Amino acid sequence: MSGPVTVVLLAAGRGVRMKSARPKVLHEAAGRPLIDHAVAAARAFLAGRPGSRLVVVAGAGREELIPHLARTAPEAVVVVQDPPRGTGDAVRAAVPALGDAGRVVVLAGDVPLLTAETLVRLEGALDVDTGAGVAVLTACHADAGAYGRVVRDGKGRFARIVEAKDATPEELSIGEINSGIYAFERTVLERELPRLTDDNAQGEFYLTDVLGLAVADGIGVVAIPVEEASEVLGVNSRAELAEVDALLRRRAARAAMAAGATLIRPETITLDEGVTFGPDAVVEPFVTITGASSVGPGSRIGQGCVVVSSTIGANVTVRPYCVIENAVVGDGAVVGPFARLREGTVLGPEVHVGNFVETKKALLARGAKANHLTYLGDCSVGEKTNVGAGVITCNYDGFGKHHTGIGAGVFVGSDVQLVAPVTIGDGAVIGAGSTITKDVPAQALATSRVPQKTVEGGGARYRERKVAEKSKKE
Ligand code: UD1
Ligand code: CA
Repeated sequence: MSGPVTVVLLAAGRGVRMKSARPKVLHEAAGRPLIDHAVAAARAFLAGRPGSRLVVVAGAGREELIPHLARTAPEAVVVVQDPPRGTGDAVRAAVPALGDAGRVVVLAGDVPLLTAETLVRLEGALDVDTGAGVAVLTACHADAGAYGRVVRDGKGRFARIVEAKDATPEELSIGEINSGIYAFERTVLERELPRLTDDNAQGEFYLTDVLGLAVADGIGVVAIPVEEASEVLGVNSRAELAEVDALLRRRAARAAMAAGATLIRPETITLDEGVTFGPDAVVEPFVTITGASSVGPGSRIGQGCVVVSSTIGANVTVRPYCVIENAVVGDGAVVGPFARLREGTVLGPEVHVGNFVETKKALLARGAKANHLTYLGDCSVGEKTNVGAGVITCNYDGFGKHHTGIGAGVFVGSDVQLVAPVTIGDGAVIGAGSTITKDVPAQALATSRVPQKTVEGGGARYRERKVAEKSKKE
């Protein structure tokens, strides 16, 4: 490793083949914009190298891209290339921003599977002693399609790259393609970039031509095949986006299993990159877990669940078909089946939330239970409180949201409406079917039911009357 290095990330292209209003590099794969994947690889590669920097070339769609980078990669130096006149022109735009770097690594914002390890290997191929001033990553694709082809001379040495659109039929049959990922000695770039022309099929300044020019100048150019061709797959169309998304998710599934999770039929499970698992977690088929989610050791996520940006503790059981979003589920909790935990839900340890229960901004303390058909919104529920079937916190009065505070050890009977704002003290008992509009003190019993009226024989008489009415009509 030698001195500072600058990574130049090309992201100014129009991405016309996506047929989208959004810049290509902001389309998502495995839950993150393409550019974030490239930034992550660049960051890992640059880590611990003082004086190094990341330069992003923005152009088409920069109104969206620049604010995105400000949020996600504030360390990046953004340069603008407008209009986009080719990859060579893009790197030219980056030259004034290269800083102190003696070496420059160029990647594209649309190649999301690339790893930092591969970049290390690529840079390692530059060698002052052997005169290797450029290294390019190549791959062998069964269908080389629109990729640039790597032309080698009679001795198998790198000669140049020819773009598919400029290639002869013979060149098109070459299987080795240009990944668009390079390491340059800065001096080589500075020498060859000004000599590029746009005399080609696309009328663009090709970065690829720098390599041919370097060879002609006697500078060593080494072509390094990647170990796995999929690592350098570029995204140019929606179909390719789907392909890299699937590969990234497969990688995430492998990482989950490597961390000790069991994935049952992993091909049916959808994971974002970065979702973490503790050992002995189990994920059943057709589960989707996305965002910054984690599943603790020994927890089981049942079939068909959707978990978004949520923290699932240890030894939790999430039964099938739950939707959990921006929520925290404590150790040993049992959720579902068919529960919906919405934003701001925090379930303490050993909480039980059963079927057809919806929660939002609800804090349930240790051991609290709401097992059936309940809405708990904008509320807190104390330890070991039991919330009966059909209980509703009426948190919305048509204008604003209000809080319901339920203490510890409370028994809320079935079909109770708690009209917020309202507070129920510790140990209180609320009779089934009550509509609670006033605070209930600790240990009190509250009911708000119409007194029951029972008419002896009334049911039989009612039935007789109805039968008589019906026969009169006929
Ligand atoms: C490029 C390579 C090709 C290689 C392929 C790998 C050239 C001439 N061709 O082709 O050999 O096989 O990548 O994926 O380099 N960009 C800019 N400014 C521009 C043009 C492009 O910043 O003026 C950016 C794009 O946003 C993209 C990257 O450069 O991130 C690659 O551009 P793209 O148009 O996709 O190049 P390819 O035709 O795929
Ligand atoms: Ca491309």
